[in-house]
Amino acid sequence: MTSDIALNQFIDFLRFGSVSTDPKYKQQVLDCAAWLKQKLTAIGLEAKQYETPGHPIIVAHGPKKEGRPTVLIYGHYDVQPVDPLDLWHRPPFNPGIENGIVTARGASDNKGQIFAHILGVEQALKENGDLPVNLIMLIEGEEEVGSPNLASFLSTHREELACDVVAISDSSMVAPGHPTFTYGLRGITALEVTLTGPDRDLHSGIFGGAVENPVTVLARLIAGLHDKNLKVKIEGFYDDVKPLAKWEREAWTHLPLQDNTLLKMSGASALRGEKGYTSLERIWGRPTAEVNGIGGGYQGEGTKTVLPSKAMAKLTFRLVPNQDPKKISAAIQAYFHENTPPSMKLDLKPGHDGEPYLVNPHAGFGKAAQKALRHVFPGQEPALIREGGSIPIVADFKSILKADTLLLGFALPDCNAHSPNETFPLSHLDLGAQLNRYLLKEIAAS
Ligand code: BES
Ligand code: MN
Repeated sequence: MTSDIALNQFIDFLRFGSVSTDPKYKQQVLDCAAWLKQKLTAIGLEAKQYETPGHPIIVAHGPKKEGRPTVLIYGHYDVQPVDPLDLWHRPPFNPGIENGIVTARGASDNKGQIFAHILGVEQALKENGDLPVNLIMLIEGEEEVGSPNLASFLSTHREELACDVVAISDSSMVAPGHPTFTYGLRGITALEVTLTGPDRDLHSGIFGGAVENPVTVLARLIAGLHDKNLKVKIEGFYDDVKPLAKWEREAWTHLPLQDNTLLKMSGASALRGEKGYTSLERIWGRPTAEVNGIGGGYQGEGTKTVLPSKAMAKLTFRLVPNQDPKKISAAIQAYFHENTPPSMKLDLKPGHDGEPYLVNPHAGFGKAAQKALRHVFPGQEPALIREGGSIPIVADFKSILKADTLLLGFALPDCNAHSPNETFPLSHLDLGAQLNRYLLKEIAAS
């Protein structure tokens, strides 16, 4: 069971407003990194803080012994922004516990899950003065902004970070109490689009009809991203998409997560997506085009008869194996260039990107990970799933450190990650700590 001390420390960890994307939170991000380094040192690891052009990276090492595998556990201490604040039942960085569930930004994504791993390591070191493997913990502060400085850090610290396998708990269980092994993640590429028509807002009565409206043009361009079957219409978008395997399509129909649950969790009035696929297939195995934000023109009370000067949209595209984020981004940018009328000035600002990930769940240390899951959830077969989210650095672990990643998430599917009122069950601290201990044991034994 999780002790009161551990619980209080977890609450302290959640109190840092470590929002990586917003410079207003810079000091809290730094304070959180310092706190983490101190915690890892206190449990007996050799912890260091590395500065980057962005937020610090924390690396900690366990006792090293010849002849046993090295496991790198990765996580992130940064969190997503909290807006809209008025939908939170309590302040996002003033955690509260109700019925054994803690509510705070970052509770599940990723502070709860990485803290559970730290507790597992702490317990093992306390009991045995050693761990079954050589352990590296790598906890960064920029995952939620696409890990812009981590890949080069992996390259320059290749030797220090050399490992046989990576383990990450930053994903969800398919249902409460159901052990879950994730063998695939989607990739991502981001693009910000700005259209400028007239050089200032104009009277829509004096100019409307003769001067083209950037909001209308942007709406048309965005609508043109999909066809009537909700397939993405960008030239070449699906060229490299690896089709879903028969076994996974079949297996996913038996999972305890289906449309009824997804519909309830989403709060939408119906589910709809690309024709020819189930919801799980659309989320886990098919690429998408999403508008994350859109703006332009008058947004205040009442009416204002203007023809706006500008319109903007923030887009992200979720990608699947074997799509290449750079190639897809180029195709998307070409679409906007080719379809923007000469009445508009087009500015494209490409954002972060990350490659998709897919690994054979039965190969390598995958079996050891599933054994560990069976210890923690006796009598239950782990669900083998992919996920729709992205952890951009996972592909770099493979290409730079030559290590596969085991994704063993234990957030709940309705944890409200990135949404208001993010939650994490306190019982999952203990569950995650146990999973950590069995995982290291099983890897050592395999
Ligand atoms: N924990 C998520 C990734 C995730 C989400 C995995 C859902 C599995 C299921 C991670 O912290 C995250 O949110 N990543 C971002 C990356 C992006 C900002 C580059 C994401 O997926 O939006
Ligand atoms: Mn996240």
